[in-house]
Amino acid sequence: MGYDPAPYAERLGRLRAGFPDAETLLILNEKNIRYLTGFTGGDGALMVGPEWLELLVDGRYTTQARGEALGAEVVEFRNRAEGIAGAARRHAAGRIGFEAPALSVEEHLRLREGLPGVALEPLLGGFQSLRAAKDQREISLIREAARIAGEALAAVREMIRPGVREKEIALELEYRMRRGGAERASFETIVAAGSNSALPHATPGCRAIADGDCVMVDYGAVVQGYHSDETCTYIVGRASARQETVYRLVREAHDRAIEAVRPGVSCGEIDRIARGYLEEAGMDRYFAHGTGHGVGLDVHEPPRLAAGREEILRAGMVVTVEPGIYLPNEWGIRIEDTVLVTDEGAERLTSSSKDLTVI
Ligand code: GLY
Ligand code: MN
Ligand code: MN
Repeated sequence: MGYDPAPYAERLGRLRAGFPDAETLLILNEKNIRYLTGFTGGDGALMVGPEWLELLVDGRYTTQARGEALGAEVVEFRNRAEGIAGAARRHAAGRIGFEAPALSVEEHLRLREGLPGVALEPLLGGFQSLRAAKDQREISLIREAARIAGEALAAVREMIRPGVREKEIALELEYRMRRGGAERASFETIVAAGSNSALPHATPGCRAIADGDCVMVDYGAVVQGYHSDETCTYIVGRASARQETVYRLVREAHDRAIEAVRPGVSCGEIDRIARGYLEEAGMDRYFAHGTGHGVGLDVHEPPRLAAGREEILRAGMVVTVEPGIYLPNEWGIRIEDTVLVTDEGAERLTSSSKDLTVI
């Protein structure tokens, strides 16, 4: 598809509206730069002046940036701080609001040296929510990532049987996602069996699956920079009564939380619903992480669905809902879907079955 300037103009307008007092803005986070210009390279700086837009990149990216970021003037630098200082001098910028979470203390010091007389103002809020609500194109890319990932999981599911190692399944799943059209996996695929499934972020190892294991598969695909994120937990051979009970608890917490997702509800409220349900069952102490997070150009991005979070869900946000119960040294169960906040409620973008599956 050709370059469409409309989304970038709209995003830059929202950025500017979020910082009405800033004269010039300096954006440094690579995903934010991509969001605002279309440049997909891994390094650079974007300066947004009152009437000008400069994308500063090093020599590795000059040609690429000129082909991708057609709405910005692309200027090459040897050293990023020097490049920023040069642009500020060219445009006689007197005050620069910079993306504080993305600037190291060291680079800040270098910028201050290079820009005597220029006020450098750290900006904290505002970047967080810029990418939270997705447009139709972004949603269709996340949907496509979820579809590719789900098809890959369906193809490798028959590998989940006694004797097969976690690593072999993770590798095959990543291979299938890439063969299916993903540019890469969303994160290092988690396949965790038995006691490893009690570690929320286990790394797949050489453990072979055994009868009676919980096998947690947490995986996702990336399409044109956009991620999916889904967790299925299977039980191998025969489920114990306790595994069945815990599965049903996690499933109910997951379903209730998704049921509550709609515009106007706070993120903290979704967490409270999932956590409160597990609390009633006396199991909340085994649920050691937040209920979910935004998904987009980053696999973890705002908003966070966690205790006390006051951000309000809006239509177009894409978030995960992923309660889990982890019994240390025994096993764990997590059920995760990526969902779109719609005008009426929530639509699941990840569609692998979340029914209790004994294989
Ligand atoms: N795999 C990371 C997560 O589910 O948040
Ligand atoms: Mn996940
Ligand atoms: Mn997640």
